[in-house]
Amino acid sequence: MNDSAESHEYIREYENHIILLAGATGSVGGCLLYKLALRLPTKKVYALCRRSVGDAIRKWESTMPHQIEDILDSGKVEFIIGDLTKPGLGLTTAIRKKMSNEVTAVINTAANISLVKGLESSLQDNCQTAIALYQMASEFEHVQHFIHFSSLAVNSFLSGGVVEERLYSAPGGTRPESDLAGFPGADTRTLPSDDRYTWPYAQAKHLAERLLLRQPSSIPVLIIRPSAIGPAMADPCPLYGPDSAIPIHQMLLSFTLTDQDLERMATHHDFEEVPVDLVANSCLLHLAHRTTGVVHCSSQLYMTRTGAEVLSTARECLTPSEMAEVFRKQRAAAEFMWQSQYRLDQIDQTPTWYVECKRSEYQKQITGPLALVPPQHDDQQHMRRRIRKMYRVLLDT
Ligand SMILES: NC(=O)c1ccc[n+]([C@@H]2O[C@H](COP(=O)([O-])OP(=O)(O)OC[C@H]3O[C@@H](n4cnc5c(N)ncnc54)[C@H](OP(=O)(O)O)[C@@H]3O)[C@@H](O)[C@H]2O)c1
Repeated sequence: MNDSAESHEYIREYENHIILLAGATGSVGGCLLYKLALRLPTKKVYALCRRSVGDAIRKWESTMPHQIEDILDSGKVEFIIGDLTKPGLGLTTAIRKKMSNEVTAVINTAANISLVKGLESSLQDNCQTAIALYQMASEFEHVQHFIHFSSLAVNSFLSGGVVEERLYSAPGGTRPESDLAGFPGADTRTLPSDDRYTWPYAQAKHLAERLLLRQPSSIPVLIIRPSAIGPAMADPCPLYGPDSAIPIHQMLLSFTLTDQDLERMATHHDFEEVPVDLVANSCLLHLAHRTTGVVHCSSQLYMTRTGAEVLSTARECLTPSEMAEVFRKQRAAAEFMWQSQYRLDQIDQTPTWYVECKRSEYQKQITGPLALVPPQHDDQQHMRRRIRKMYRVLLDT
């Protein structure tokens, strides 16, 4: 951290923060860990890892090989082994007690982001886990904030138009009995699958939002709804981001696309993606600002582009034969697009949304280590490098 950075008011907020970070080995979690350990004066981070410390370190060595040593050497990170699906989160009584006396904020990025998992499994991984973590945090003595990562997909049942930063009711109305399926250990079969959501993941995430925001406890809750997340601009390193967590790569891996398909997709859709480090910065600024309720994190906070603009950039930085090589590769259409509104032949009929990001608009003016976009960032160059990265991924798969 440099001297000028220390003059930013939000930085001082971190001097007394002891943060429990769930999902620390994931895409957003890894970026948050880097920021908390190396770019902010955070007192301590409890990094919750699912399997073992060795497994976590191997993941970070592959996603941020040049940063992980410094993170570990910062002396700020304490690993805890736990699994949010297990009773007591799989944590020892001693570690729970220690955290109860120390933790000031919880950030939950743990999830199973698979879009093909069924509702029962998605409810367990994306809703029951969040409630279990929240329930444990409610017993902590000093916790001031609980931040939960949701997704813009929760509002996929809306018929298009403006999406506001607020909790929407479930499409079928309130059903308190079936909503009980979201609580830890409950029978997930009691919640019927609702295909007005694009994926079961979205339905499970929406239930988590409703249950968290309606909890009677006094811990302030912030729900962050990112759009599709893409490779980093700068932190922990340019283009950071595991491919498995980049939806646009996973989506393109589902199709064999002709030139006409590409044109049709590009004409009818904006390119809705936000760099992972912008997501992490926005989250940490909201923590410093103590924001509660719902906030969005979409391309409005970075750079809005039409699909046609992105396709035109792709054609500048990939040769026609490279384009043909990746997009015309024969791929078995994955279940990924299982809903009719996402069928390629009906792509021009899918709803379009305008995602409000009003509550984070002020963050565009912030400078220092949590500036939403680094000062020297060249978005067009980033897009070209990002497209080349996508090309390498698609070529290999
Ligand atoms: N990626 C996107 O484009 C996107 C878009 C919108 C919203 N989001 C949301 O943003 C958040 C972060 O996503 P991400 O892209 O960082 O996902 P990710 O890379 O798949 O990371 C998920 C993390 O959760 C951990 N985890 C999963 N189940 C767990 C359990 N039962 N107990 C403890 N840890 C568990 C994983 O641990 P392991 O390493 O052990 O697997 C991993 O660290 C999620 O809530 C996601 O729904 C993501």
